[in-house]
Amino acid sequence: MNGALLCLALIGANPLQEQGQRFRPVESAAGMVSSQERLASEAGASILRQGGNAIDAAVATAYALAVTLPQAGNLGGGGFLVFWNQPERRGYALNFREIASRRAHKDLFLDADGNVDRRLATRSLLSTGVPGTVAGLLKAQSRFGVLTRQQVIAPAIALADQGFPVYPVLAKSLRRAQPLLMKDPTARRLYYKAGGVPYAAGEILRQPELASTLRRIAREGRDGFYAGPVARQLENLMREQGGLIDRTDLASYTAPWVEPVRGRFRGLTVLSMPPPSSGGVTLVQLLNVLESFDLQAMGLNSAAAVHTLVEAMNLAYRDRNSELGDPDQVEVPVSRLTSKPYAASLRRLIRSDRHTPSAELGGMSPLPANSTNTTHLSVADRQGSLVALTTTLNFAYGNGIAVPGTGVLLNNEMDDFTAKPGVPNAYGLVQGEKNAIAPGRRPLSSMTPTVVLNARGEPWFATGSPGGSRIITTVLQVLLNRVVHGLNLASAVISPRMHSQLWPDRLQLEQGFSPDTIQLLEQLGHAIRRSRAMGSANSVEITPDGGSLGVADPRRPEGAAVPERP
Ligand code: GLY
Repeated sequence: MNGALLCLALIGANPLQEQGQRFRPVESAAGMVSSQERLASEAGASILRQGGNAIDAAVATAYALAVTLPQAGNLGGGGFLVFWNQPERRGYALNFREIASRRAHKDLFLDADGNVDRRLATRSLLSTGVPGTVAGLLKAQSRFGVLTRQQVIAPAIALADQGFPVYPVLAKSLRRAQPLLMKDPTARRLYYKAGGVPYAAGEILRQPELASTLRRIAREGRDGFYAGPVARQLENLMREQGGLIDRTDLASYTAPWVEPVRGRFRGLTVLSMPPPSSGGVTLVQLLNVLESFDLQAMGLNSAAAVHTLVEAMNLAYRDRNSELGDPDQVEVPVSRLTSKPYAASLRRLIRSDRHTPSAELGGMSPLPANSTNTTHLSVADRQGSLVALTTTLNFAYGNGIAVPGTGVLLNNEMDDFTAKPGVPNAYGLVQGEKNAIAPGRRPLSSMTPTVVLNARGEPWFATGSPGGSRIITTVLQVLLNRVVHGLNLASAVISPRMHSQLWPDRLQLEQGFSPDTIQLLEQLGHAIRRSRAMGSANSVEITPDGGSLGVADPRRPEGAAVPERP
């Protein structure tokens, strides 16, 4: 052992850096798909093997997740995609977030006394926004894919038609969702056996109605979902059960290409999702604020580093909750919020010797965060292109209502709007007027699909996560762990996570923070809450030899990173 190594051994090297040698990402000589469900990742990897590119594979994986991960994968929801197209050396972002029906209005979820009716906001058909996933996947693939639409949808059709063995996590999830899904006769038939009996792990779940919807999309493209029988069935359901969406809303749905939010962090370029996601703006704002703190010297997950992150997060969430909304309808100051001078002004508010209570920063009384069901996939291809795609029904299984005859579950994304300014949504986010419900508006999201380029402007890694309001802070920590603390991709994803969002004024910590760290944080004034696992940051990385690495977040054991070629 040389002197430097001996010295490190004596003072005790960072255990996570040691783990960095143990936790290895999956390696590939070519492309890679990482998603929250193994069969879906296999579907994407098979598309790479057929000659498809990163977009083909990402789209195939997303369609497959609609079959094999019904709690979050979807046709009836929405999402965002960030794409680095290496042949062009250019970044893109695609907005396929759901849209409020043109008949929606600001007080949609208020009862006669002016209080928010949580059932209406989350469990009724009023909670559904016009779905965007199918429009988004078709738009991305038709512009950038090299295979045919039929080829990329084929794996999902096979999985829905022939069925797949229910894996233990899905069996448990469907048992837990029984009270919700059994209320809707269509959902009950889709996800349970006769008499409402749940599937045991290993039994085959077939979804022939979903297969026929997928076939229709493969055949007809956009009209296979936004017109014809699927649209008619959706409109009928809405009319019969008090929803607002009709065929005009469906026909007018658009999924626009937008410019990614760009940030510079220590010479790297970060491309992420602009509004109506709050993810990219808040991520870049956080990176700007944190750039001049020596987090590496403080040490990964030390009390000083965690304290600094909390203080920066609280300031960023203060802006997130009041300044952001759908840029097609409200003024969103993206340039100011992501500027270096603005970050410097925020940095001056951070004290190293004590936590600034949220009451000193502003805000209102909130609820704790709960639902965390969204899903993220990342893809690298052999040319060096990267896709980060996050998609959601909002809650697990959305509002639990399926469109008869289609196999499609509906989202409850309308709860991401501000039902009443100052009253928290399901994630404990207290938001303002800019995110009020309005006809044709998209609700503010936290989804943060992100691509990072290295200091030479070459593609490096793609990441993202589910987790509601904790998505942004999860992505931030994966990025800091990889870039600042030098962990390999697997350790960067595995490392214990923390979260703070201004309100509630609490620091959430996963397992894995030492008692001494917690004690020091309490001395700085932090109220600590132990949190269950946060996020599922399925990530991929390009290696200098033209191969790739992948890691599926072990917090969700059903995930897998699958190489194009081992
Ligand atoms: N529905 C979670 C999000 O969009 O942030």
